[in-house]
Amino acid sequence: MIRTRRTYMTLNPKKLTRGLCVGLLALSGGIAGNALADVEMTIRADEPGDTISKYLYGQFAEHLGRGLYEGIWVGEDSDIPNTGGFRNDVIEALKPLKIPVIRWPGGCFADEYHWRDGIGPREDRPVRINTHWGWVEEDNSIGTHEFMQLVEMLDSEAYIAGNIGSAPPVDMAQWLQYMTADDNSTLAKERRANGREEPWKVAFWGVGNETWGCGGNMTPAYYTDLYRRYATFLKAPSGYMPKLVASGGQNDATDWTEALSGGTTDAGMFFKIDGISHHYYTLPTGDWGKKGQATGFPEAEWISTLDRTLMVDGHLNLQEEVLERNDPDGQVGIYLDEWGTWYDPTPGSTQGFLEQQNSIRDALVAALNFNVFHEHTERLHMANIAQTVNVLQAVLLTDGPKMIKTPTYHAFELYIPFQDATYLPLELDGVPDYEVGDVSVPHVSATAALTTDGKLAIGLVNLHASDAIDIDIDLEGFSADAAEARVLTGASIDAHNTFDSPETVKPTGLDVNLDGDSLEVSLPPRSVSVILLDP
Ligand code: AHR
Repeated sequence: MIRTRRTYMTLNPKKLTRGLCVGLLALSGGIAGNALADVEMTIRADEPGDTISKYLYGQFAEHLGRGLYEGIWVGEDSDIPNTGGFRNDVIEALKPLKIPVIRWPGGCFADEYHWRDGIGPREDRPVRINTHWGWVEEDNSIGTHEFMQLVEMLDSEAYIAGNIGSAPPVDMAQWLQYMTADDNSTLAKERRANGREEPWKVAFWGVGNETWGCGGNMTPAYYTDLYRRYATFLKAPSGYMPKLVASGGQNDATDWTEALSGGTTDAGMFFKIDGISHHYYTLPTGDWGKKGQATGFPEAEWISTLDRTLMVDGHLNLQEEVLERNDPDGQVGIYLDEWGTWYDPTPGSTQGFLEQQNSIRDALVAALNFNVFHEHTERLHMANIAQTVNVLQAVLLTDGPKMIKTPTYHAFELYIPFQDATYLPLELDGVPDYEVGDVSVPHVSATAALTTDGKLAIGLVNLHASDAIDIDIDLEGFSADAAEARVLTGASIDAHNTFDSPETVKPTGLDVNLDGDSLEVSLPPRSVSVILLDP
């Protein structure tokens, strides 16, 4: 929605401070009810930085609960409208997100998955037990061909997570050859016989998942050796070799990044490490035994969730410090290939299916992650939210034939302009702290970039549960003719969409006062906004 008003604004001289969010206004007794000075922001369009990789907006879809089965795949015989087994409503909802990459088949499932179970006629495929997630039957209806069909339907790219935990190197090596060979080898012929003439391009290949836990309970040193062994046998025809991602650590741990990058990361024709994965989940309480609820939570868990989300910045900094030391040339990237909120499951949902509602709080979590990711573009090469449909911080939820877009979906949609945009540094001045009890976060988080079509994009998050905030924005090196601004907020801190009310939380237009190289905007409480400025 275009809401442009040209007005004259006077900006105060700025005390510039580099950083994502800086809280400078100390107010006794918190800020609620106090009159606030405007926050001042300067965006340096004249100092463009790195590209914000589109892969920071990746997805992760595991064989877990109703994530793939029912959530994305219903089979060709289903009453739910589908194309080749993929539900039409879900595919049509996902297409506009411009999903750059999808990670599959796990997660923990990856290290118990045997790719041969998922090829050939579906009626002949074996039924296994998904021992990680619910001990349910896995009939392997979705296998390599179906996943790659999904990737093609969404105009996306594939990130395959190979099994290092319970399969020998030959399995992983042959899976890659099956997908990429274009010759008369038996594997290439088998793929053709199964309906796929051309080899597939697999963009990324993960060598195991969470090998410190469900992927095999290994030590960093043991896995590092194992990575080298498995990666040595991963070969593909010229132009078809995926980037190889080693399975790394989680949270603030650095021992996996240290071990994997501490030795050789590029052994010529033998193996290479293009990236090291890292995982970070946001739990409102930080306690896996009692994580906190998806809805009906107190303000203390609103702020603790946002506070814990922002911790990803520190976790990434720690990995980067290790890589700066061990890989100063910047050959190895960080792949944050699992992130998102993890709550206590929806009451009544199947144990092990990791189902949870998704509220405006999740939209803020997503946008805060994006804002942080943009600060790490040099080393952070990919990020994948867990997970696409019905699992954890999903962008879509389904219930039989019904489907809804979650607030997280809308955050992803709002931030599309940042995919492959050029990072712009910004300074924020006068950002008050928002405090609840002994937890304090900045009232505002912001990011800016030059989009691939020449616009200036600004992403803004108002973290406060109940207070709006005004921002004066000064553009250095950019003059705007028109502004298009949208905002996502909710009537309460747990506002969410339901199958009966699917559009309770959705983006609306936002007023912006624009005057060439400066603008004013008022951010409603608990909101995510994206402003697009035309030159
Ligand atoms: O996303 C759910 C699970 O979280 C994944 O399977 C695993 O890798 C992680 O522990």
